[in-house]
Amino acid sequence: MVWYLRVVRLEVGDVVRLGILTGGGDCPGLNAVLRAVVRTAENVYGQNVIGYRHGWHGVAEGDSVELTGASTHGILASGGTILGTSRYHPDEHDDATERVLDTLARDHIGALIVVGGDGTLAAARLVSERGVCVLGIPKTIDNDVRCTDRSVGFDTAVSTATEAIDRIHTTAESHDRLMVVEVMGHRAGWLAVSAGLAGGAHVILVPERPFDIDEVAASLRHRHQRESFSIVVVAEGATPAAGTFEFAVTKGPSGDIAAGAIGERVRSELGLRTGFESRLVVLGHVQRGGAPTAADRILASRFGVAAVEAIQSGASAVMTALCGDVVQLVPLADATAGFRPVPDDLLRVADSLLR
Ligand code: F6P
Repeated sequence: MVWYLRVVRLEVGDVVRLGILTGGGDCPGLNAVLRAVVRTAENVYGQNVIGYRHGWHGVAEGDSVELTGASTHGILASGGTILGTSRYHPDEHDDATERVLDTLARDHIGALIVVGGDGTLAAARLVSERGVCVLGIPKTIDNDVRCTDRSVGFDTAVSTATEAIDRIHTTAESHDRLMVVEVMGHRAGWLAVSAGLAGGAHVILVPERPFDIDEVAASLRHRHQRESFSIVVVAEGATPAAGTFEFAVTKGPSGDIAAGAIGERVRSELGLRTGFESRLVVLGHVQRGGAPTAADRILASRFGVAAVEAIQSGASAVMTALCGDVVQLVPLADATAGFRPVPDDLLRVADSLLR
């Protein structure tokens, strides 16, 4: 019987090696998190930081690199993650959790910072239940992690999608067209509502509200009595209301929704019902790329510093969260007990301003 060293809970002031991983879909701001964690650990607490490559897979395989001030110099404004990422979760692979514990013990990791969306953070909660000190940091352009008002990456994705919608306005108006713009968001419509409002869309379709295509068509026909073009923003996870038209969600190889599936169906159904010339634009992974906005750089830095400080205070199985404008720690169990849909009050803003 091989006994696995449990990574003991920290006592205040313990000097430890910190581990960090970035998991799930990448987003702008991840490198800003890494930079903040390394700078705080090194400069304030004299701690070394070990980065695990490609999310949880690197921990299971012992694939790591030491992160230093030098190796994280100049990455604040860089999109993506210098560690790489993956959608690998140890609890989904035989003996992977034991290999994770082995790696952390072998590397003398006193605490592991896990930067991810709900899948990566759910795996973090399971690892914390094996006695590992774990700190979560929420990131996803979908902004659908519970218990935090914002996740790293969301602000940049909204800016990117809004700029694209602004551009679509000029070509839609020039051609008197109905333009359907599909954005990411497979469970929650945060990106669709935010970029749709900021970009002046005329209709926004979100997973939270299954839509009636005939009602949408009627509203567009009404609009075209005074305007010659329309922009319809559709979240990739939006679905038609029961009894309207049949739509089977097409999933990609990693369970992700096939890009353009709902967007093309909405475009063709609306084209049939209105007679308007129409085109589809799928923003896809453009929303996941590029340099983080200032807001994401600041949020990422705040979360990175808070995570290192929380470890010093002996915290574990918690996640940094933005509550209003205050960074707090919330239980990982609460943060991973589902996802965060767009609230009705924000959807009502869209109802009032669109058409
Ligand atoms: O989780 C963020 C996200 O961008 C979703 O909005 C999208 O459905 C999914 O990742 C795409 O996953 P992948 O990059 O694996 O295709």
